[in-house]
This record gives sequence, C-alpha cells and structure tokens, in this order.
Amino acid sequence: MSSGIKHTEIITEAAEKIIHAKHLVAFTGAGISVESGIPSFRGEDGLWNRYNPKTLEIEYFIQHPELCWPVIKEIFYTHFNKARPNAAHRLLAHLEEKGILKATITQNIDSLHQQAGSKTVHCFHGNSARLTCLKCGTFYPANNEFLSQAVPHCMQCNGILKPDFIFFGEAIPGEAYQLSFEAARQCDVLLIIGTTGEVYPAALIPQEAKAHGAFIIEINPQQSNFSFQTTLLQIPMKAGEAAQAIASYLKLKID
Ligand code: APR
Repeated sequence: MSSGIKHTEIITEAAEKIIHAKHLVAFTGAGISVESGIPSFRGEDGLWNRYNPKTLEIEYFIQHPELCWPVIKEIFYTHFNKARPNAAHRLLAHLEEKGILKATITQNIDSLHQQAGSKTVHCFHGNSARLTCLKCGTFYPANNEFLSQAVPHCMQCNGILKPDFIFFGEAIPGEAYQLSFEAARQCDVLLIIGTTGEVYPAALIPQEAKAHGAFIIEINPQQSNFSFQTTLLQIPMKAGEAAQAIASYLKLKID
C-alpha cells in the first residue's frame, strides 16, 4: 500500500477518535516545536549533540553560573524569540476552544502553546518566560533588562537568577505534576506529539493514561519509547503536517 493511502487511513482514524473524544488530552515534547524553528534535544540535529547537558544540571549551574548562562541564552533565548506557533500548536488551541481538548501537558518551556491560544497548559518542566532568584525566590520576566547581564542578578538580594524551568536534578513543579497526572487519569483519548519518552517522570504520563483506559494516538516521524508498548495508533508524520491533515479532514480552520 502506498504511504499516501496508508497515511490517509491513519489520519481518518485519528481524526474520528479526536472529534468524538469525551475528554481529549495532549502530551507534547520538543518535536512539536521543531517546525517552529526550535531544535529538539535528541536525534541527529539535537541540542545535546552540540551542547553539554551538564550546563542544565542544577549543581553545576550553582557552582558555575558564569559558564552556564551564555549557553542557556544561546539554546533557549536566541531561538525562542524568533519562534512562532505552527499548525500543530494551533490545532490543539482550536480543539480546546471547541471544548474537545481539556488540557495540554507539555514538557516544552517555549510558551508556543500559550502563544497559539491554548489556555489549560500544564508546564511539566516549567517555563522559560520567567527567571527566579536562587536565594530569595523572587520572579522576574526573562527580558533584556536581565538577559543583557552576563549572569542575571536579583534586584532584591543580588542573588543569582536562573530560568524558571527545571534543571536536571530539580523536582517537577508540584502543581503541574499533580494536574498532569490527574488529566492523564481523566482522559479517554491521549494525543502524544513529538517526544522520545526518554525523560522521567514525564514519560510516565502516557502509561498512566493507558492504565486508565485511554486510547493513545502518537504523532512522531520516528519511533519513540511509547511506540511499542503504549501507542495504539501511530501517525508517522511531522506534527505540523499531521495537524494540517487532521484539520482538513475535520474541516477545521487552523490557519
Ligand atoms: N514533528 C513531530 N515529532 C518530531 C518532529 C516533528 N517535526 N521532529 C522531531 N520529532 C520527534 C523526534 O522523533 C523525537 O522523538 O520529537 C522527539 C524529540 O525528542 P527529544 O528531543 O528527546 O525531546 P523531548 O522528548 O521533549 O525531551 C524531553 O528532555 O532534555 C530534556 O527537559 C528536556 O523536556 C525535555 C525532555
């Protein structure tokens, strides 16, 4: 069977599941933002092939903020300011507006779901839009006033600021953790988009949804850790392309 026909059949099945879902939840990773110009972490063009993940280890950051901050700016702030939501972010926002999608759980810190108009977004790994003081916990916007400093410092106590997303070795934000697993338990359809499923505890979310009876759909051009034992319907396409195909089948305007 040609891949074109095969994809059409898969898109049709996925679109029907999505539009008839009683409680659809989305679970997204870096892959959903690749077509927005933000590189993923793993895979041939992955950030971890070019940068040392040590830069994002909390202990290393506390000891060497002057070594970490230039890399953090390059990875997370240079790309993000140029990135815009793509069709996949817009499809999720549209499905939420129609009352079908109840929540988006994202591992991403790029705010593209929020920019696309999604309202219920659980930021499982925090978000890059804010900085926080390691000493007194004060929050600041991640804007040029702070990012222009070699190592951003707190205006209250002069402590060192870090982006408000979790570094390796840090705990998942409590509220996001709780709301994400709650959403996973409540959903009857879970739409996984663009994640290897390499990082825990985020990778437990699809398993939690499946254990509670959800139908698992996955959009990813490659196989992931979910492909064999969790996913029931794999769409082997890029997120933006699959989203356009689903939207046109459902006659949804997401442009
Ligand atoms: N559309 C859909 N999926 C894509 C696309 C695309 N255009 N391009 C790549 N992918 C897929 C890849 O096949 C891969 O499975 O996206 C996934 C990206 O995987 P990772 O880079 O590992 O990203 P993610 O799974 O989100 O990483 C989890 O690791 O470093 C930490 O905190 C970081 O949140 C991140 C976590």
